[in-house]
Amino acid sequence: MSVSRDPNFASEPGPEEPMAEVRLAGADEELDRSLRPRRLAEFVNQRQVTSQLEVFIEAARRRSESLDHVLLAGPPGLGKTSLAQIIAAELEAPFVQTAGPALERKADIASFLTALEPGSVFFVDEIHRLNRAIEETLYPAMEDRQLPIVLGQGAGARTVTLDLPPFTLVGATTRAGLLTTPLRDRFGVSQRLEHYEPDDLARIVRRSAQILEIEVRPEGERALAERSRGTPRVANRLLKRVRDFAEVRGEGVITGAVADQALGLLEVDAAGLDRHDRTILETVAVKFGGGPVGLSTLSAAVDEEQETIEDVYEPYLLQQGLIKRTPRGRVITERGFEHLGLEVPEGAATLF
Ligand SMILES: Nc1ncnc2c1ncn2[C@@H]1O[C@H](COP(=O)(O)OP(=O)(O)OP(=O)(O)O)[C@@H](O)[C@H]1O
Ligand SMILES: [Mg+2]
Repeated sequence: MSVSRDPNFASEPGPEEPMAEVRLAGADEELDRSLRPRRLAEFVNQRQVTSQLEVFIEAARRRSESLDHVLLAGPPGLGKTSLAQIIAAELEAPFVQTAGPALERKADIASFLTALEPGSVFFVDEIHRLNRAIEETLYPAMEDRQLPIVLGQGAGARTVTLDLPPFTLVGATTRAGLLTTPLRDRFGVSQRLEHYEPDDLARIVRRSAQILEIEVRPEGERALAERSRGTPRVANRLLKRVRDFAEVRGEGVITGAVADQALGLLEVDAAGLDRHDRTILETVAVKFGGGPVGLSTLSAAVDEEQETIEDVYEPYLLQQGLIKRTPRGRVITERGFEHLGLEVPEGAATLF
């Protein structure tokens, strides 16, 4: 990410690095695949999400029916793709995957739908990025398992309706707010994944460490869990990087001290913020005097897409109580100033 080189910045930005580290790069994608939980029992539970799904899945199995369509929403790296695959595995159903931006024309979605085997789980990632025409094709498909197609052109054109096999559409989105109401209403099950608590992340780190054959002490587990931005994908990625550090500088074992040192080198701070999170926080604090600052202004100032700020960075900063959203824009909280080691500027009290 490139950062505005404001001399008032409280800390120097580091070398250039691809933005949004939680987005997938090749090596991380491989790591994701190897560590992805395969069954519901392996998926570290999040509040009621999996227990509810377990009931719905079991009910569908007993009735030999397909499961209701499922919408999974939440920030990146919290397990949406994993859950979609798990649903198929638990139903012992074929899994077919595509993504909103890959479906351009009606024919694209029609070819997927008509090729589905009965009972399939049809996973549409980034479902908020479907275009209107595709979305409208989905309505009768989801509701009545029907696919109207237009044959011919002009005056001779006629519509025939194809019957589709039973299937379960699983949609994933980082932006549930962008879904249209008619589409949202067609999902019988809608689940929102939230950031994970440290105890849950510690379990995920333990599981991943076993798979990757890494020795991690409980204090090391704790340090990783607390500093992973509440995100399993980040926990796994940090585990791997900290392992490198442990091998080179330590004895290959991730102790509490090794984890602390390594996370310091990786510029992950005590609250789990990485350099990009801090840049955003510092920009609001210093450049905009604590805010309020609008999303587009902030986006230009940190040279980061609005969507990335909203999807990736903000949810965690909000959850940590470091920033707040107000009708006039984003403001930093007292806690945010404290976290940066900055005095709360005079007059900023009106912000809180
Ligand atoms: N509940 C969980 N238990 C164990 N591991 C998990 C859990 N959730 C996520 N993970 C781990 O995090 C990785 C990322 O999860 P996943 O790819 O499912 O996230 P996602 O929500 O689909 O992200 P994106 O929005 O970027 O597509 C998985 O490969 C898995 O290793
Ligand atoms: Mg995914």
